[in-house]
Amino acid sequence: MLTSRAGMCLSDLIRGAFFSLCPIIAGRRGAKVQKRKTILDLQRMKAEGEKITVLTAYDYPFARLMDQAGIDMVLVGDSVGVVVAGYDNTLPVTMDEMVYHTRAVARGVQQAFIIADLPFLSYQVDVVEARRNAGRLMQEGGAQAVKLEGGCNVATTIRAIVDMDIPVVGHIGLTPQSIHRMGGYRVQGKQAEQAQQLLADAHAVEEAGAFALVMEGIPATLAAEITAAVGIPTIGIGAGVDCDGQVLVIHDILGLCEKFSPKFVKRYADLAGTIRGGVEDYIREVRNGEFPGPEHSFK
Ligand code: KIV
Repeated sequence: MLTSRAGMCLSDLIRGAFFSLCPIIAGRRGAKVQKRKTILDLQRMKAEGEKITVLTAYDYPFARLMDQAGIDMVLVGDSVGVVVAGYDNTLPVTMDEMVYHTRAVARGVQQAFIIADLPFLSYQVDVVEARRNAGRLMQEGGAQAVKLEGGCNVATTIRAIVDMDIPVVGHIGLTPQSIHRMGGYRVQGKQAEQAQQLLADAHAVEEAGAFALVMEGIPATLAAEITAAVGIPTIGIGAGVDCDGQVLVIHDILGLCEKFSPKFVKRYADLAGTIRGGVEDYIREVRNGEFPGPEHSFK
């Protein structure tokens, strides 16, 4: 082994030099190192009653901005099919598309926990395929967990994926991949029998080993009951305030989707207006010769 005069081996010297040149990685004295959130943080947050914040992201710039803002978890949702690709629903989204978007998001995120959706047909046909696809989102996409829709009906699949040491998030209630069975995007669990089924689904998902549960489009009282009944964090979307955390689609909260906005969405910005305004200004300035000015031109 090559050793220096001070008795350090060469690899120690190289590692030391590398870390001293990389303050972000090395955490130079005094510099704050961004620590990646883990499932342990989420469990602690539930135990301590600290609300968990989640937003969807589909690309590098949005992921980077929401990570910098301090979001706890980023969900690469198959809602990408609707808000980015312009489909009517999430059914056309493929595994390759999910891998592509997850990879872009992973490059933008340093501290948030990344969950990627298993799209329609990637886990329903057989368990082996489900395991391979979950593995792809981790290996090729860089996700830390996968999410799939369903309750008792997908418990075996959840168990099979968890047994590969892949953390799984369940998703019950209004499950968009079941749009045709539900007859549209409708609130679920309003009738007592349906509510009982959703409670059973929540328990089945937890018992199968999922570490968190998304509950979408269900009455707030039922969501509160399920949150109290399960030990894993519940993340609500259209499920009232008593869930352990909340998730929304980023395009909805920033006002990018003008066609339709569900009742449970709150708009925090009007990016559609801002973008249109910026583009209109550009068109006007190009047409009247105001752009490019001397400051944008080379001598
Ligand atoms: O695909 C998605 O964005 C989702 C959330 C709406 C929960 O599943």
